[in-house]
Amino acid sequence: MQHSPALAALPSADGCWQPVALAPWLCAPDVPVGAGEPACIAVEHGRIAWVGPRAALPTAFAHLPRQRGEGRLATPGLVDCHTHLVYGGERSHEFALRLAGASYEEIARAGGGILATVSATRAASEDELLAQALPRLQQLLAEGVCAIEIKSGYGLDLAHERRQLRVARQLGAHCGVTVRTSFLGAHALPPEYAGRSQAYIDRVCNEMLPALAAEGLVDAVDAYCERIAFSLAETEQVFLAARHLGLPVKLHAEQLSNMEGAALAARHGALSCDHIKHLFTQGIAAMRAAGTVAVLLPGAFHTLRDTQRPPIAALRAAGVPMAVATDHNPGTSPCLSLLLMANMACTLFGLTVPEALAGITRHAARALGLQHTHGLLAAGRPADFVLWPVQHAAELPYWLGHKPSCGIVRQGRIAA
Ligand code: NIG
Ligand code: FE
Repeated sequence: MQHSPALAALPSADGCWQPVALAPWLCAPDVPVGAGEPACIAVEHGRIAWVGPRAALPTAFAHLPRQRGEGRLATPGLVDCHTHLVYGGERSHEFALRLAGASYEEIARAGGGILATVSATRAASEDELLAQALPRLQQLLAEGVCAIEIKSGYGLDLAHERRQLRVARQLGAHCGVTVRTSFLGAHALPPEYAGRSQAYIDRVCNEMLPALAAEGLVDAVDAYCERIAFSLAETEQVFLAARHLGLPVKLHAEQLSNMEGAALAARHGALSCDHIKHLFTQGIAAMRAAGTVAVLLPGAFHTLRDTQRPPIAALRAAGVPMAVATDHNPGTSPCLSLLLMANMACTLFGLTVPEALAGITRHAARALGLQHTHGLLAAGRPADFVLWPVQHAAELPYWLGHKPSCGIVRQGRIAA
């Protein structure tokens, strides 16, 4: 396994981690997790070689040196599947404006919101963007995040979108963490295209996306389908351009209103539909049929003091996988704790503990197309896991703003 210089300096995690406790719903189905039996995780060459009850450890792994599991609860590395981590500036004055009664939509229509961050992002150099994003990423990593999605969408022209995506790639290499990039050129209409939405979308599809994809900067394509952003037809044009290049799509869908974006995204085989507070029956059925993940973003719900909740009971009944993410961004979710989001997904949206934990691991990995490598403890996967100093899995979403000091194995190295 190739390591970033930062990770290469850390001790190898090869060895047999024991004793640890396992939660069955965070292990591959073939892992024989006994009720409360001491378990172990064997790591060889930076990968999980075996996981299961200590008593059943195959002799082939008996020679591995012992690593200290200390009886801690082992989970897969956390996955934050929706972030806007790279940007310039901050928007605390909008927080104050909303407290005084202005709505997110009103602030956006008056030229604030996303466009305020576009100005600050365009004004920052690549090094400045990296320096500002790095401590944010480090906070997420310290809480056990091992894979993260980072979107563009605050550049809104070729040069500045490229800069954001390059910084996202640099963050992954620098910190030794799996980064999936999403090109979000269709996030807002840049001021130089005011009144010319179609011309901007043409540029996104015909110039920006092909160029950035050719540079290897784009893992997926996202859009914001909303009355303050782009129409259903414009969103479909972006999806068609993505699919032409063989790139998967995802969508900021039904955040402020029901635009029927989720059904469109699902028809294009979307990895995920995110926000989905105003999602109704037809969209749920389409997502289920396509295997699209519903990404819940309680940080934005909380920050905007929203009252419209995503249709959790209907999603659950339909069997649509639900992920939970920070949506870290300077406007609607200045949040750097995925565990806090798991807490809010339970308290604000009504998820159960297993649902919330699957939401920040298994289903989040699927929302990034990483379901075969991340989000589950299973043999053959990269050794990305977290050892928590807790007795019960419910403690992870239970604490409010407390960051437990966990042991972290990332990309086969002992990161904490
Ligand atoms: O996911 N809704 C659109 N995008 C972001 C907010 C971006 C911003 O306000 O800067 C979101 O909530
Ligand atoms: Fe977002």
